[in-house]
Amino acid sequence: ELAHVFREPVTLAIIGGTGLYKLEALKPIAKLTVSTPWGMPSSQITIAKTKTGFPIAFLARHGPHHDLLPSDVPYRANIAALKNIGVKVILAFSAVGSLQEYIKPRDFVIPNQVIDRTKGIRASTFFEKGFVAHAGFGEPFDPKLNKIIGDHCTEILHSDGVKLHTKETEGKDLVLICMEGPTFSTRAESQLYKAWGGAVINMSCIPEAKLAREAEIAYQMICMSTDYDAWNEAEESVTVAQVVGNLKANSDNAHRIAEKLIEILEPKIASGDVGSDLEGSMKFSVSTKPP
Ligand code: ADE
Repeated sequence: ELAHVFREPVTLAIIGGTGLYKLEALKPIAKLTVSTPWGMPSSQITIAKTKTGFPIAFLARHGPHHDLLPSDVPYRANIAALKNIGVKVILAFSAVGSLQEYIKPRDFVIPNQVIDRTKGIRASTFFEKGFVAHAGFGEPFDPKLNKIIGDHCTEILHSDGVKLHTKETEGKDLVLICMEGPTFSTRAESQLYKAWGGAVINMSCIPEAKLAREAEIAYQMICMSTDYDAWNEAEESVTVAQVVGNLKANSDNAHRIAEKLIEILEPKIASGDVGSDLEGSMKFSVSTKPP
């Protein structure tokens, strides 16, 4: 029987996407039901401890049974609940389509830029009702996390040709296109995103990354490539069967990446080296005049 309360701050959280509904290697010690002014999060928050006693939070973005569409994920409740328990760093996993030949299905991609192609129907700010703020988002992910993942995760992938792509390995920005969905892109849309220089495409980075920024939480998305989307006329366009098949085949690597990062990040978060750069930043982003 898992505890329903956990009193220590939990500084590191993992948001699991399609195919990643729990963290197998870690033994759960608590399951928290956290309610927020923005409603209930997608799932209960599972707390697990590492061998050294470092607590990690896990949240399943699409719910424990995957019954939330990307457009219906309670993004504000998710980020608010994680903020509430003390989270400073989020590693967010996501299945993505590849827009480039060199990114093969089952490769990992650590993007450093985003183009928002959601359609304005997702609640994407904590600031409303007479309180205006504009968070900086020029660099949508945490550069330190981005670098750490590139430095420590390439080696640990079970190979058979699986690669980890970062800004450093490619020598250019790796751009994630976030579309609304739930229908996948047409071939013309897919070719447009490819021509824009998009590397990968998903449906769930926005507004998650924006809300993490407003909550002053360091955030990086870890993308698992599952298909070539729809741009390639010679190939079958993306299907759910492709996405799920490649995710299953690759879940071992996703778990290896999560475990490695937990080990590397524990001392860096504890020392304030990682997860503190945004502290106090929103104070300077508020435009509303005091009464
Ligand atoms: N998630 C996985 N593959 C995708 C694709 N091709 N487009 C949008 N989201 C995806």
